[in-house]
Amino acid sequence: MHTKAGTILRLFRTEAGYISGELLSRELGVSRTAVWKHITALRNGGYCIEAVPSRGYRLVTSPDVINPHEVTAQLNSTIIGRHLELVQLTASTNADAFRRAEDGAAEGTVVLADAQTGGKGRRGRVWSSPAGVNLYCSVVLRPAIMPHEAPQLTFLSAVAVARAIEQTTDLTPEIKWPNDLLISGKKVAGLLNEMSAETDGINFVILGIGVNLNMAAGQFPDDLRHPATSLLIESGRGVDRSRFTAAMLSELDRLYSGFLVHGFGPVREEWQRRCNANGRQVVVSDSGTECSGGMFAGIDADGSLLLRSDDMVLHRITCGDVRVI
Ligand code: BTN
Repeated sequence: MHTKAGTILRLFRTEAGYISGELLSRELGVSRTAVWKHITALRNGGYCIEAVPSRGYRLVTSPDVINPHEVTAQLNSTIIGRHLELVQLTASTNADAFRRAEDGAAEGTVVLADAQTGGKGRRGRVWSSPAGVNLYCSVVLRPAIMPHEAPQLTFLSAVAVARAIEQTTDLTPEIKWPNDLLISGKKVAGLLNEMSAETDGINFVILGIGVNLNMAAGQFPDDLRHPATSLLIESGRGVDRSRFTAAMLSELDRLYSGFLVHGFGPVREEWQRRCNANGRQVVVSDSGTECSGGMFAGIDADGSLLLRSDDMVLHRITCGDVRVI
């Protein structure tokens, strides 16, 4: 799955010090001249690579860009990221991935963008997508499940993002039903799944994932419905975008591979544990009107929120805004 440039970057990370041209040529299965060409291409992409005669090459600094080679070099997966494409500017990675899937793109195809001009949020909202700071990612999946089970994959991606945040920062995110990730009560990531389906099965699902990584406070639009934040704002430290992307895709792969074998159960259990409403009393409102309240009792197989009211009746909530009290 690794590209040649990706293999070079992986070797730079795993081997301390200089790596000889001979070792690189052996590991890559190409000539020394071809190694030099790959090193030159990486340098042109902003990597500072020192070359010392008779010692070899050493990576000095990496650029602050999402680099597909850098992502694949750190990717630990079998399905997700088999094909990975980075576009600098696009309307929406979800729209791009949807088109690729209609054209037959394989399961695990990933489209990443540095910036989006028409980032899509839920309920027709706009997802603010400035360049150079965040993660905008869409993944093509083709699971053999029924259309009503597709929301399970949104929960799966929420867990993957939560795990990646914990791996790359000291922060502990919470998940808010149905698919927001919060830190200190503010939204740090959103998920938008779209699908193409027949009545008896799914053609494909697009997992759309947006995570605010290094966005500064002044970059958020003024008209946000809910308070938003970024990992940079919350931790005070910048996040390496390629590293975060690789961590998130690797977790997605681990969870999805488990899902194909064991079903939704383990994902549901972890999602519920990470949910901000877990074990708490909540109120649900729709279009600003409070409509029901009760004790959070988990989620069901089609993604509905389960609430147990004081009279012990179990209610299924399919949409609305959940507030923990
Ligand atoms: C939400 O409203 O919370 C969902 C936001 C989803 C945004 C991501 S960014 C990558 C992908 N491409 C899009 O156009 N939207 C999703």
